[in-house]
Order: sequence, then C-alpha cells, then structure tokens
Amino acid sequence: MSEQTPADGKLPNRTVPFSKAFKDFIASDWAAPSDLLPASLPAAAWTPARRDRLRALFPGDRLIVPAGPYKVRCNDTDFRYRPHSAFAHLAGLGADHEPDAVLVLGPEAETDTLYFHPRVPRTDPEFYASSRYGEMWVGQRFSAGEMAALTGLRVRDSQDLAAALAAPGTDGGRRPGLRVLREADPAVTSLADALRGWADQAADAELAVACSELRLVKDAFEIGELDSACAATLTGFEAVIADLPEAVRRGRGERWVEGVFGLQARHLGNAVGYDSIAAGGEHACTLHWIRNDGDLRDGDLLLLDAGVEVDSLYTADVTRTLPVSGRYSPAQREVCLAVLEAQAAGLAAARPGAAFSDIHDAAARVIVQRLADWDLLPVSVDQALSPEGGQWRRWMPHGTSHHLGLDVHDCAAARQENYRRGRLAPGMVVTVEPGLYFKSSDQLVPDRLRGIGVRIEDDILITEDGHRNLTAAFPRHPDAVEAWMAAVQNRPSI
Ligand code: GLY
Ligand code: MN
Ligand code: MN
Repeated sequence: MSEQTPADGKLPNRTVPFSKAFKDFIASDWAAPSDLLPASLPAAAWTPARRDRLRALFPGDRLIVPAGPYKVRCNDTDFRYRPHSAFAHLAGLGADHEPDAVLVLGPEAETDTLYFHPRVPRTDPEFYASSRYGEMWVGQRFSAGEMAALTGLRVRDSQDLAAALAAPGTDGGRRPGLRVLREADPAVTSLADALRGWADQAADAELAVACSELRLVKDAFEIGELDSACAATLTGFEAVIADLPEAVRRGRGERWVEGVFGLQARHLGNAVGYDSIAAGGEHACTLHWIRNDGDLRDGDLLLLDAGVEVDSLYTADVTRTLPVSGRYSPAQREVCLAVLEAQAAGLAAARPGAAFSDIHDAAARVIVQRLADWDLLPVSVDQALSPEGGQWRRWMPHGTSHHLGLDVHDCAAARQENYRRGRLAPGMVVTVEPGLYFKSSDQLVPDRLRGIGVRIEDDILITEDGHRNLTAAFPRHPDAVEAWMAAVQNRPSI
C-alpha cells in the first residue's frame, strides 16, 4: 500500500526497483508476531482524568489533538520523532510514539479514539519499501490491539479519521463541533477546516490554551517522572564533572561537555530536553549559547544548563556554574554568592498562594541591591526596580521562572492571568534561575568582574506548605560545589 513512489510515478534517483521475484520471495516464511499484548503504560492510569478535565471545558465538542508528523531536518531526512506534548499528556505515549497519530476526544469518554497507522502484514510492500512505516526500516510497529492495550484507548486506523470527524454525534443528530490543536499537524488542521468550511481560529485557540493550562498543576505520575528526570540529570552533571580535565585537554571542551551530558541523556532517558548550554568563560554571557564550540580553560567558569528528558518526555532544567579548575577565583565567588542570595530570595517566595511573579520580584531585588553595592546602577534601587526603570536588566535580561514539565518551557499557551499574573498552587513545578552576566566589553563593569557569567537554576515543586526542591541534590553554595567536584573527580570510575 505505501510503497514510496513520488506523485509523478518516477522512482527517486537512487532507488533500485524491486523485481517481481523479490516481491514474491520477501512475502513468505516469516514467523507470526507474538499475540501477547503489552502491559498498559504507567501513564494510562492518569490519562482518563486528564481527558475528562479537558472535555468538561468544551461540552458536546469533538477535540482533535494530533501527535504531529515527522519534521524534516534536510531533504528526505527527518529529525528523530517526538510527539506534540499535548498529545503525550492526553494519550500517555512517550519516546518516539506515534508519528501521524491523532487523538480525538468525545464528546463522551467512551468515544475517545486514537487514530494511527497500525502495522501491516509482512505480505504488504510497506514492510520493506516504506522508510517511514516499514518494519525493515523503523522496526516492528504496534498493532491496533497492542496500541489499545498500551493506552487503554479505543483505537482505529488513521484511514478512518476523516469519516469519523464528519460523522454525526452518537445521538444521530448533527455533527458535534470540531476543535483542533492547530499547531500540531497541518494536514489534520486542513482536514478540520475543510469539514467546518472555515478555519475557526478562535475556537481552536481556546483548545490550545486549555491543553496548556491543563498541565499547570502536575499529577502524582508527572511529579514522579520529573523526579526521575532530575535524578538522571544529576548523573549527567557528575559525568561532566568527572570528565572536565579531559574536556580541557582535548580542546573544544564545550563540545566535549555537551557530548558527555548527551550520552547520559540518551542512555538514561529519551534525549536532552533542550539543547544543552555548555558555556565556558565569556560564552556564559550569551544566554542561549548552544554552539558550544569553545575551549575550556583552567581559571574559567563553565555554565552548564542541561536537562535529561526521560522516556515519558518530562524534562529537568538545571544550571550550575562550575569552576573548570575545581576552585572559584575570589571574583567568581563574589558573583556566585550574589546569584545564590538572589536564588534563596526567589525560593523563599515559592509557596502556594503567592503570585508567580513574586519569585522574580524577590530575586530581582537582591540582584539590584548587589548591583548597587558594585556601584553599577545609574539610579536608586527603587528606581531600577520600578516599571519605568529596569536598568538592572542589562545584567539579567531573562525572567527568573517558568513552568516545567513535558516542555522545558511548559504551558506556553496558558493565559497571562494564569501564568505570569497567576498564583502558585500545589502541584506546580517551576524553575528558579536568577543570573548575572558581565560581558568583557561592558565598560561599566569593574575589570575583575568582566567576562563572568553565572546562573543557578533549580526545579521546584510547589507543595501544600511551601515547596520541595526537586534538584536539592545538586550543590549550590561555592564551597559545596568545590567539595562536590573534588569528590566526583576522586571517585573511582565505574
Ligand atoms: N534552559 C532554558 C532555560 O533555562 O529556560
Ligand atoms: Mn529554565
Ligand atoms: Mn535552563
């Protein structure tokens, strides 16, 4: 069925045509796949409640949440597949499942259905000829029965999607309203628009907001996954610390660090949750330094911002600024202590009922006070902190917090009143990550501080009575970081 032939019928320029003899031969003498069904995914115990909460916001509607297609890296080569996070959250599938799948909710729970392309018999040319779905190319895929056992969902072939979306409601009356998560899969969005006769952007935007806001408060399964992501990230940081002398020796040490962390991320989890920032010396002052092609030198700092994404796709997001030699210079320590103090103030504000922005405001006040101590501000502390001021942001242009979960910047479509202007509640997971970045070209900054960039970032679960630091096992104080590095580097390698 899906032997890959371009629309003009010509084979790609490097494809050798399959002979009839091959086609006859390849179809025979394969053992049947096991008919044992897999155990349900751990997330499957949690997804029905998530779907019910979403459905309750749009009574009577059909909600279309695609996993999304492969994304092209170049020409006919795709990036490794990752589903849209809303799909992962509602279907419970992680890792690289499931390209082109579409979850359709309701209107009733019994009609929640997962549409996907199930595996075909080995007599089908897809088996050997489809680099996208064929078992010989991508491995054995799930049958419909296996997918149903894994997810607990009703499962149908993708070929049935268009007819199902066009069908009347279970009462036989008119077709329920459709809403689609537009950004996930352009082909599914076009299908929904065609069925509705127009692109109902406003209705769809409400669904996107709801899918994001549904994830603001994590359930117990999600918190467990985030704990696992943080534990794996600690292993990744310690692997980097253990190999720092090698990173210095080899040159292009930032790349070495990125690779060592990436190895742990791929080994312990699915991948890195975002491109690692491995920034030596001055590079730490480039906030999204992911080129990572610099040397590491004794005497420099290494700002490492990295997180492991576990197989369920939840990610950690941690930053530590490490002395490459194992010892901070007095000036580096001075900046680290200022950032640490700002972080402590931010952490103290991380409790239920507080405003999300309280964390940033508390951290910012400390940063501004330290900048004033260094005589860097052209105005008073209060003027710098006022909405009309903000001069301090020259040295910390980013926010202090974001939600964390399936996406490193989770809940991105949540409304301002529920995010930046919202209140913290038990079950929310946020980062607390102040920093200070003194570029060497900044003529306002004293010589001893130039070229120093420091960020300290932890992942915080808001609890009933305060918070739990999911990354408490990462040392933070300069003395503790030095002791940690010495201990890790003196450990026998395993
Ligand atoms: N690693 C990106 C961030 O900290 O937000
Ligand atoms: Mn972050
Ligand atoms: Mn980060």
